[in-house]
Amino acid sequence: GLKYFGAATDSPGQRERAGHEDAYAKYDQIMWKSGEFGQTTPTNGQKWLFVEPQQGVFNYTEGEIVTSKAQKAGMYLRCHALVWHSQLAPWVEAKTDWTPETLRAAIVSHVTKVARHWKGKCYAWDVVNEALNEDGTYRESVFYKVLGEEYIKLAFQTAAKVDPKAKLYYNDYNLESPGAKVEGAKRIVKMLKAAHIKIDGVGLQAHLIAEQHPTLDQHIDAIKGFVGTGVEVALTELDVRLKTPATAANLAQQKEAYKNIVGACVQVKGCIGVTIWDFYDPFSWVPYVFEGEGAPLLWFEDFSTHPAYDGVVEALTNK
Ligand code: G3I
Repeated sequence: GLKYFGAATDSPGQRERAGHEDAYAKYDQIMWKSGEFGQTTPTNGQKWLFVEPQQGVFNYTEGEIVTSKAQKAGMYLRCHALVWHSQLAPWVEAKTDWTPETLRAAIVSHVTKVARHWKGKCYAWDVVNEALNEDGTYRESVFYKVLGEEYIKLAFQTAAKVDPKAKLYYNDYNLESPGAKVEGAKRIVKMLKAAHIKIDGVGLQAHLIAEQHPTLDQHIDAIKGFVGTGVEVALTELDVRLKTPATAANLAQQKEAYKNIVGACVQVKGCIGVTIWDFYDPFSWVPYVFEGEGAPLLWFEDFSTHPAYDGVVEALTNK
């Protein structure tokens, strides 16, 4: 059985562009008090941009908004994300004269301070996020350009030292069905294990598409493949976008997509939890990035639930 079914959420300050202030009370009730969710992840507040906006200057205010509520509510907390090329503080990207030495020191300092701040509170940390290209090769981030794959080892090694009880995850998208990227992620797991560096899990973000979703068996194959390398798996950022407007037809496809992926996680021992990437459509990242797409979550703007909500319940109860 799963340890949790949860929803990521953001601090209201980060939600400004979404408006809907009149929905906050109802939103908070569902998020924190309804019992729908046993876990959460802050969608933005723990990212490098917010926690170390200037070199050596740490600020946990944004991250604390969600993490402290999670603690009060007694929810599992997934912490996200220590080393990522995106939403990186400008000083990291702007600096053109990184040397292996100075960048190593910056990574160690960042991971040490941030993991220490939340020590003992995170069920899991996404230690490295999105290091791979679609073909399974490494993405040319500032970290990779200066350090090669050593940066991945360094991040995991440092996190393990600081918070030995947190499950340490590699997290990425498009890992939900077999393919080159899945092989790339397995290579990372094997590389760390061969070096005797702690890695406990792989996070399948699971940003899926209603109209072209994988089958149950494809999901099962991918998840089993990871479990076979000796790690646990979680669905960490699940959403299923559709071409707007939502219609009976694309909502039915969305329901099937949710049911397939949640069902696969339920069926494979070693897949330990599911997190949807927020639960309320108006607060989704999708419409800002994919024009003409949206409604990817389980609650519509008017707080009625999608057919996919029933699909998730069916998957969780093996129906
Ligand atoms: O920080 C500003 C804030 O000050 C301002 O008031 C607000 C209104 O315009 O914008 C804020 O910045 C936005 C931030 O989200 C917070 O809302 C950024 O413009 C926006 O780009 C950013 O998007 C986030 C995205 O990561 C960035 O890549 C999404 O909320 C977040 O859901 C998304 O999450 C990622 C995961 O971390 C990793 N996997 C993919 C996933 C989806 O992109």
